[in-house]
Amino acid sequence: MGATALTARMGNAATAPTPLTAQRAMAQIAPEGYPQTEVWSYDGTLPGPQLRVPQGASLQRRFVNKLDVPSSVHWHGIRIDNAMDGVAGLTQDAVPPGQTFDYEFVVPDAGTYWYHAHTNSMEQVARGLSGALIIEEPDAPDVDRDEVLLLDDWLLDPDTAQLEPDFTHPMDLSHGGRFGNLVGTNGHYALTVTAKRHERLRLRLINAANARIFVLRLTGLSGWQVALDGMPLPAPEPIPEELVLAPAQRVDLIVDVTGDGAQAAIERLGNDEQWHSQIAFEISGEASRTRRDAPAPLPPNPNMAPTDLTQARLLEMKIEGGAMGRMSRNQMQGLMQSGNFWTLAGKAGPGDTPFARLSKGEPVRLRFVNDTAFPHAMHLHGMHFREVLEDGSLGPMRDTVLTFAGRSHEIAFTADNPGKWLLHCHMLAHAAAGMSSWIDVT
Ligand code: C2O
Ligand code: CU
Repeated sequence: MGATALTARMGNAATAPTPLTAQRAMAQIAPEGYPQTEVWSYDGTLPGPQLRVPQGASLQRRFVNKLDVPSSVHWHGIRIDNAMDGVAGLTQDAVPPGQTFDYEFVVPDAGTYWYHAHTNSMEQVARGLSGALIIEEPDAPDVDRDEVLLLDDWLLDPDTAQLEPDFTHPMDLSHGGRFGNLVGTNGHYALTVTAKRHERLRLRLINAANARIFVLRLTGLSGWQVALDGMPLPAPEPIPEELVLAPAQRVDLIVDVTGDGAQAAIERLGNDEQWHSQIAFEISGEASRTRRDAPAPLPPNPNMAPTDLTQARLLEMKIEGGAMGRMSRNQMQGLMQSGNFWTLAGKAGPGDTPFARLSKGEPVRLRFVNDTAFPHAMHLHGMHFREVLEDGSLGPMRDTVLTFAGRSHEIAFTADNPGKWLLHCHMLAHAAAGMSSWIDVT
């Protein structure tokens, strides 16, 4: 061990890592005039504190559990050391009330990530246990401001503004999942951001909702998408007219405030097919006279080489079950007796055996066959993948892919990170009701 490593070790022994404490807190989620909502929080705030770490550095947090139930922290999208992945029952034991767990790991990739509870996450994330994790590029792009926008929804009793406490309603488990009746950003139902004309903003959008797929559009803001699920795109791309963000997905935008009026906005398509303001930008003053040049691409992260499809092992994962699906009545009833509604590759829940055993470095093609009546946001821990597009080319690197009802989606990745990695639907009610599996990379 070199002198520096040794000093670092001794330093660690002397000073305990910064705590990250799960605890109850009150938050003004609903509009003023409504009571505050009791939530489960990290460090007393909703969302949890925004963690910012330079790329390549080591993140250290002592998780302190002040809740009265066990919990653990998952660092979503980080290509992490398996022992630090935070999945209770697979990579660690859940941390009992009153106890602590020290997380310490290197963050290899710059970008927009997030952290959230991974013990009974269907309930714990809905109660508020999530926050943004930003890994900073050594050379950040030239913008005036960097805004993290964590989108969420909450299911509140309209009279008391308290969270509906039935987190395992069979209707949620078997249909689209738990949807909130109040949609918001950064812990508030309506977020307003101030901006100047021609100001250049980096917007980091994170979908932290349990089940809601956000369909968004921008008005008075024009720009590019530069990263998906943390990973830089090879070149900035025009922002799609309708930006789709499935649960757990992120997108980094670089936008200029170009609107003529006093307001710009990010709007959300509602179930009523109308556009609703999700985030309002109040424009006052001018940052510059004219628009700037197009931004440069973000610097690539290490280890982004495309997977060699010709050498890849082919795997298929059929997604079945749920309401209005094609599973037989008998099969469904058997499944429901175990508290499940869904299966991945014929199996409900992660169980003791992995879906696949892969050798380290092995290229893999994994085809999801969504044979249900619902969309599912499939997330692989520990490694990013690329979607194999219809024409056989590879899409951008992501960690969560939205699969559509009745469709197949193939992903390709190189199994280069050893460990037990969860593979599950990020509609968290689905994950709890059978849509969780895992792979073992050795
Ligand atoms: Cu966002 Cu299993 O994770
Ligand atoms: Cu699902």
